[in-house]
Formats: sequence, structure tokens, C-alpha cells
Amino acid sequence: MTAQAPAAVDVEPTSVFLRACRGLPVERTPVWLLRQAGRYLADYRALRERHELLELVSTPELAAQVTLLPVDAFGLDAAIVFADILPPLVGMGLELEFAAGDGPRIRNPISATRDVDLLGVPPAEETMAGTLEAIRILREELEPRDVPVIGFAGAPFTLASYAIEGGTSRDFTRTKAFMLSEPAAWKRLLTKLGTVQADYLLAQAGAGAQALQVFDSWAGRALGRDDYLRYVAPHNRELFAAVSRTGLPVINFALGVSAYLEDAAGCGGDVVGLDWQLPLDEAWARVGFERPVQGNLDPAALLAPWRELRARIDDVLDRAGGRPGHVFNVGHGLVPQTPTDNVRRLVEHVRERTS
Ligand code: CP3
Repeated sequence: MTAQAPAAVDVEPTSVFLRACRGLPVERTPVWLLRQAGRYLADYRALRERHELLELVSTPELAAQVTLLPVDAFGLDAAIVFADILPPLVGMGLELEFAAGDGPRIRNPISATRDVDLLGVPPAEETMAGTLEAIRILREELEPRDVPVIGFAGAPFTLASYAIEGGTSRDFTRTKAFMLSEPAAWKRLLTKLGTVQADYLLAQAGAGAQALQVFDSWAGRALGRDDYLRYVAPHNRELFAAVSRTGLPVINFALGVSAYLEDAAGCGGDVVGLDWQLPLDEAWARVGFERPVQGNLDPAALLAPWRELRARIDDVLDRAGGRPGHVFNVGHGLVPQTPTDNVRRLVEHVRERTS
């Protein structure tokens, strides 16, 4: 592993996003949105007509351009680098494709313990150079505007589910069968995945990312608490511990973990990303009000008329109660049907109501 963590930044940040991530007072609540650069944007769809998704992701200038589309259009308070959680699997030996309208596919999924041992653990500097360069370009572009750049990676369970199922799964049958039948190989698989993601996150920090987010999209959907604690939590703890060395704020976002939110949040991270299932104040109380949180509007609310959407935004803000340490966000990614007018009004409303 070659990635070096930069020296911890101990100067107080000025941007509202980085301040909120540290629980510092802010002049207004920062807002950014999961999947803010995506198919709901006409400019994105136009670019996608000319380029495959993986081409957009791996070409630094294009990835930077896509990242900036929503930041420029809506004045968001943070820019998440346009990338995906799955490309790091390619360097490990898995063949990834995004089939049109079909979501991601792995052509050679893991089915035997031997497949785990054949997976490589190459450094991110070699395999993810396009995304690292995109971060450098974005940092230069956004520094004068004081808009921080967020890097991200997938958590080991979520990536293992793609590696084993070969795509997005409804019930995670193969993943769970492998986990329960081959616990030693499962451990080796999650250790390898965790090592690669830790190195990738450190490399993103080295390239200039100012915050890091870990997405554990499927562990909470797939596993009960006991299995989560036994088969997932140790690997997540190790990942957060490795990444905390950067000194950057790390956001721990796990979907569908309401049944064991304390345990998922307890794995680490400075900020807890909350999905949309629990009212924000209830989830925040369980996490502890001293810990910053990000969330948690249901992205489906953006499909509602403005009156309803505004009431839902107000509900999230009321429940946040003006406490320091709240980053406004959706509780899962924006969907392609999202009207851009609603995104614009959301950002304006959060800004007006909290300043
Ligand atoms: O703006 C942003 O938020 C940054 C970009 C981003 C993408 N993927 C680009 C993308 C981020 C943060 C991700 C993370 C990601 N990717 C996750 C974790 C977050 C979550 O949603 O739970 C997961 C599970 C993936 C894997 C993935 N990538 C799936 C399941 C799909 C297909 C589903 C879909 O929405 O089409 C993708 C494709 C993908 N990644 C798109 C985007 C904008 C849409 C694809 C397109 O343009 O064709």
C-alpha cells in the first residue's frame, strides 16, 4: 500500500459543510445531496449519450465536469467527486460493466473460496488514478469558492455483495450462503476489500479530498443485528480506524440499519449519515447529540408538490432543532425523476430558513 495520509488539518475550517462536520457553529445549515450529479440533470443525460458511465468516471476532466454540474446549478455546499463504489473491484480482478438500464454487472463473480484468494490488492494510485486526478482538478477549481470536495468508497459488505451476487440483489441469498458456509474465506474477502478501500480513501485524501464518506448500502438490508456484529462490524471498525488517520471528517452512511443504528454508528466515523427511515431527532438521540449527523429527507419527497416537499424539509429542520452539527441531505440517492426545480427550491429553502 502506497497511499500516504496528509498531515491532519487543525486550522478551523471556514466552509459551512466542514464546520458542521466538526460540530462547530455555522451561519446556516449546509446542504448537499446524495447522487446530486445524476440522471435527473439534463446536462448529465446529454453527456451520457456520448460517454459510457465508466468512461465518465475514469476520465478526470469529464468526472470533474459532471461533479460541478449540480454545484454550479444549485449552489450546493459540497461537491462529491463523480465516481462509483464499484470500480475499485476492477483492479482486484473482477470484471465490471454497467449494462444499459440494468444496473451494474460483475461478469466473473466469486463463487468459491479459491476466487477470494485470487483477488489482488493493488494500490489505488495505480488502479484509481482517474478519480484521484479528478479530485485534484476539483480542488483547484473549488478552493477559491470555499466548496469542499468529498471523496468516497463502499464498505466491505456492500462490495462483497456485488462481488458474490454479480449485481444488485433483492435478498442477498448467495452472499449470505457464502458468509455462513465459508466463514474463513468470508473474513479473508472482507479483509481484502477493507484494505483496498482504506488505501483508496487515504489516496483520495492525499489527492485533496476534504471529507470522506463510506457507503454501506446493503448490510442493513441483508443482515440481522447478530450477523452484522459478527460478520461485518469488525471490518467496518477496521476501515474507519484506518481512515481516521487522515484527520479529515469521515461520514459513516449505512442504509436500513434502524434496528441496530447504535452498532452501525459505533463502528466509527465522525459524522453519521442517516437514512430516511427514522425521524431525524429520534435517530440523532440514538447516535448521541454530541456526534454530527447528515440527513435525512426521503428522496421521494422531491417528487411531491412544493407544499408537501417544503413541509417535509421543515420537519427535518425542526427536528434538527438548530443544534450545531447538522448537514442537510437526503436519506438516500436522488432518483432520476427528480424535478430540478424542486432541488433548486430545496437548497434555497434550507438556506433561507436556517440563516
Ligand atoms: O453525485 C453523487 O452522489 C456521486 C456519484 C455516485 C455514483 N454512485 C454515480 C452513479 C455515488 C456516490 C455512487 C455510489 C454508489 N454506487 C452506491 C452507494 C450509494 C447508494 O446509492 O446506496 C451504490 C450501491 C452504487 C452502485 C451502483 N452504481 C448502482 C446500484 C447503480 C445502478 C443504479 C442506478 O441508479 O442506475 C450505479 C450506477 C450509477 N452510479 C449512476 C450514477 C450517477 C447512474 C448510472 C447512469 O448514469 O447510467
